[in-house]
Amino acid sequence: MSRFKAVIFDLDGVITDTARYHYLAWKRLADSQGVHFDEEANEHLKGIDRMGSLDLILAGAKRQYTPEEKLALAHDKNEHYKELISSMSPADLLPGAVQALDACRAAGLKIGLASVSKNAFSVLDSLGIRDKFDYVVDAATIARGKPDPEIFLKAARELGVAPEECLGVEDAVAGVASIKSAGMFALGIGDPAILAQADVVIPGLQHFQLNAY
Ligand code: BG6
Ligand code: MG
Repeated sequence: MSRFKAVIFDLDGVITDTARYHYLAWKRLADSQGVHFDEEANEHLKGIDRMGSLDLILAGAKRQYTPEEKLALAHDKNEHYKELISSMSPADLLPGAVQALDACRAAGLKIGLASVSKNAFSVLDSLGIRDKFDYVVDAATIARGKPDPEIFLKAARELGVAPEECLGVEDAVAGVASIKSAGMFALGIGDPAILAQADVVIPGLQHFQLNAY
């Protein structure tokens, strides 16, 4: 028996390694603008929406950008990102991801997805797992991205479960902060030194054990 009634997953970096593709696409953009950007800087971008991420990168630029220029750069990044994910298939599911989803289902829990990515539906379809979720938040309907709790609270509300009965699963610092300020239990995926605010951290979903949290 789990003490939770719902599990709400992030997508990028939790269920599939799209975090890598986001990084590669931002890296090319940063290089094209002469802005320093590396894996360490990328940690701060994880979980942050497209325009927010661009602003963080351009904070290191030598000049100011107009709103039109920013939109064009964000568009280019997204086109490159879509190219990178175009050949994704169920083989791109991270180890343990399907087993974790199935374990939640078998335990009778509701399953939600809370990703701020506007590409989330297409990634879920490429992975062939859209029907494993009871509710997927449409990122276009979210006013405030992570670390704001809005997206996790919306998922909980739509699933009909109180926040304190939800387990949130995240690989990003901003995502864990979002889960905690929503009043949920946070399972971090990655490095405990980075995801210091998470209640428990595991290296990947192959270590997911519903009854242990
Ligand atoms: C998050 C990623 O899931 O989605 C971020 O962690 C990304 O890196 C954000 O910027 C927005 O994604 P998209 O696909 O809408 O540009
Ligand atoms: Mg993520």
